[in-house]
Amino acid sequence: MAISDSTVAVIGTGNIGSGLAANFAVGGQDFLLAGRDQEAARKIASGLGGHAEAVSVNEAIERADVLVIAVWLPDFEQLIAQYGERLAGKVIVDPTNPVGPDSDGNYRKIIPEQESSGQILAGLLPTGARLVKAFGTLSAPTLSAAARQEPERAVQFYAADDDAAGDLVAGLIRAGGFEPVRVGGLDQSIRIEMFGDLHEYGALGRTVTRTEALKAI
Ligand SMILES: NC(=O)c1ccc[n+]([C@@H]2O[C@H](COP(=O)([O-])OP(=O)(O)OC[C@H]3O[C@@H](n4cnc5c(N)ncnc54)[C@H](OP(=O)(O)O)[C@@H]3O)[C@@H](O)[C@H]2O)c1
Repeated sequence: MAISDSTVAVIGTGNIGSGLAANFAVGGQDFLLAGRDQEAARKIASGLGGHAEAVSVNEAIERADVLVIAVWLPDFEQLIAQYGERLAGKVIVDPTNPVGPDSDGNYRKIIPEQESSGQILAGLLPTGARLVKAFGTLSAPTLSAAARQEPERAVQFYAADDDAAGDLVAGLIRAGGFEPVRVGGLDQSIRIEMFGDLHEYGALGRTVTRTEALKAI
């Protein structure tokens, strides 16, 4: 199945959810948009040229083949606990960085140093749900500013164990105006999460083109 034949949903209408929604709409990708605050979802959807349909989280989970869950890690875990088996058969896209604020106003990792939220979330999903780690490598401002970059598109890395699920998400990355580069399986998630060597705020320090990305991985 191609991404153009899939029903895509974005859950979460914050920085990343609304940024992805805007990029998908510009790329002509139709999708469902769901948030806890349905009025906020409706407002965002109404400005996206008919590409977004605001629905409840329940309806998004019912209808979508591919669910981009743009919420913080504890909320993601809670959604998995709540919807459980209803996520089986879906491609679940995880943009989370497992971080929270420290006492100095900086970010600190909220899971053990060597763990990734991609692997933790994959372990919580029901059998048959396929997780792809993507859309968490760039900051929200970069997600907007670097979309459809000319002359060469900026890369968004992703990690997937399942080839077909990875290909679908690669299509979604393209629709959002970026060049997809697979870093490997989910055991490589840590590299594209915050503090990882391929994260914009990790050792990479900036966006990269495909040629630069292939050298870096
Ligand atoms: N911000 C960045 O630059 C950035 C960059 C890369 C990755 N990320 C990752 O992306 C994720 C989202 O970050 P963000 O900056 O977009 O956060 P945010 O602006 O705080 O937005 C989080 C959104 O999640 C929604 N939410 C929470 N629980 C929900 C639930 N049960 N059902 C539906 N919606 C729910 C919130 O709804 P309410 O408004 O009702 O609370 C809010 O709209 C995080 O995991 C973060 O690590 C962020």
